[in-house]
Amino acid sequence: MNKSAIITGASRGIGEGIARYLAAQGYHLGLFARGEAALADVKASIEAEHPDIKVHIYPTDVSDLGAVTGAVADFNDQLGRVDVLVNNAGIARIGTSDVTPEDLQALLDINIKGVYNLTHMVAPIMKAQGSGYIINMSSRAAKIAMPPLGAYALTKYAVNGFNEAIFTELAPYNIKCTAICPSVIETEMTKDFDFPNDEKIQVSDIVTTVDYLINLGPNALIKEVVVDCQRVVKAIKSPIKRD
Ligand SMILES: NC(=O)c1ccc[n+]([C@@H]2O[C@H](COP(=O)([O-])OP(=O)(O)OC[C@H]3O[C@@H](n4cnc5c(N)ncnc54)[C@H](OP(=O)(O)O)[C@@H]3O)[C@@H](O)[C@H]2O)c1
Repeated sequence: MNKSAIITGASRGIGEGIARYLAAQGYHLGLFARGEAALADVKASIEAEHPDIKVHIYPTDVSDLGAVTGAVADFNDQLGRVDVLVNNAGIARIGTSDVTPEDLQALLDINIKGVYNLTHMVAPIMKAQGSGYIINMSSRAAKIAMPPLGAYALTKYAVNGFNEAIFTELAPYNIKCTAICPSVIETEMTKDFDFPNDEKIQVSDIVTTVDYLINLGPNALIKEVVVDCQRVVKAIKSPIKRD
């Protein structure tokens, strides 16, 4: 039986890395992002490397429930199942109490509503098949919120909260849920950070995390994985002095 996976935010960065990994594991793919050209490039490249893998692309805004409903229905019609959902699409905006209303709305729509929309449409498919894995790409900012990414952190705390609840809700259906909470990763999102690229977490580290999670036995459930960054941890100073 062919396995299948839906990955949002799959046109670059972490989502593209996970899509390439899952294709190599034999998963047919449904890839979501807004930009069609970049998605088409990823599809062509994966299908060239893995001729047995079918890649369906959905140039869809994850915050649009109507569009997500149609895309998930199309994917399920073609594949008949969804084994893995990776809720990875997300944006970052600068701002805490000073975040603009427009940026706050975009963060809420994409980072929270996007996760709800895909989960809302895919969970019934997984329940019916009696198995599945939902991976929610959260952030280290969901464990300790700090300015100037306070509004972004607000949305990732929400992702962890939703993950906490679906972890318990869906376990009886043999559906696992994990929030991955990484610190700074080398992608487009962090290209303007004052942070050397070679000291960032690599996309391959997140792919290795996904590989570890999906290969656990059926009785082992992992709710959260926090992936810290060496440079950030080294900068932490304790207020307690010891000789
Ligand atoms: N990079 C980091 O340091 C880091 C750390 C912790 C957590 N994360 C989280 O990891 C996830 C992926 O981040 P990344 O670093 O790979 O970001 P990225 O390189 O900016 O890629 C983001 C992806 O999401 C898609 N996307 C954005 N808005 C969308 C929407 N409304 N609907 C559908 N797709 C959308 C983008 O394509 P389009 O723009 O074409 O739609 C792109 O494919 C995000 O949730 C982010 O918050 C990142």
